[in-house]
Amino acid sequence: MRQKVIAGNWKMYKTIPEALRLVNQLRKKLEAQPPRRTRVIVCPPFTALAPVHEALQGSNIGLGAQNIFWEEEGAYTGEISAAMVKSTGAKYVIIGHSERRRYFHEEEAIINKKIKIALKNKLKVIHCIGESLEEREQGLTMEVVSNQVEWDLKDLTPQDLKNIIIAYEPVWAIGTGKTATPEQAEEVHSFLRDILDALFDKGAGKGMTILYGGSVKPENAASLLSQPDIDGALVGGACLKADSFFKIIQASEKVG
Ligand code: 13P
Repeated sequence: MRQKVIAGNWKMYKTIPEALRLVNQLRKKLEAQPPRRTRVIVCPPFTALAPVHEALQGSNIGLGAQNIFWEEEGAYTGEISAAMVKSTGAKYVIIGHSERRRYFHEEEAIINKKIKIALKNKLKVIHCIGESLEEREQGLTMEVVSNQVEWDLKDLTPQDLKNIIIAYEPVWAIGTGKTATPEQAEEVHSFLRDILDALFDKGAGKGMTILYGGSVKPENAASLLSQPDIDGALVGGACLKADSFFKIIQASEKVG
């Protein structure tokens, strides 16, 4: 049985003191009501990773980064390597987020290199995919997400998949308040499992943890998370307050 995962992508929010305040509040709530079926992950900005790791000592909350560079090391001013992320205590990294595809021109070949270097450095990957509004309106959703899975995960083995979580995040639902309906999300999630079976091996799809992301809020979390192929959520805006993020975790616990 796949575990439920609720991950928070903090994006470019929270200074170090703000980050510590947020994780301390979250930790307190989770210690009062420990989740039994849901893995909780927070992904603060790079600058807060080490201090947040320190603040999370002894808790079950997982820690992830939001990006890495695709080379081991070198003259790449301003970039952060997988080993650097690993050395903060983080165990996860988000790769392929639509904001990085859009603003930093990250294409499939780059995402593929980043996923490979993350896995080589023993970081677990939260791999984001999803179609734009235009692509959905043209009926291209399934084609877009299957191409992303095929090319982003090129040359990987079924064994590698064990260290990858997929997050389906329709671009039109991110930060817009427009959530995919549970049926729309479920349709894509179920299709992704078929694609993974076809690209890797039978059973690959069934074993993969697939999260939904895009305007997940306490009010809509339960209906999304109760879909059979939705294993959790990658939360943006609603993870920036301990209260709303905790409510989403509680929703996952109820349906889990
Ligand atoms: P919102 O929850 O703010 O729509 O962001 C979703 C997201 O991009 C998570 O990675």
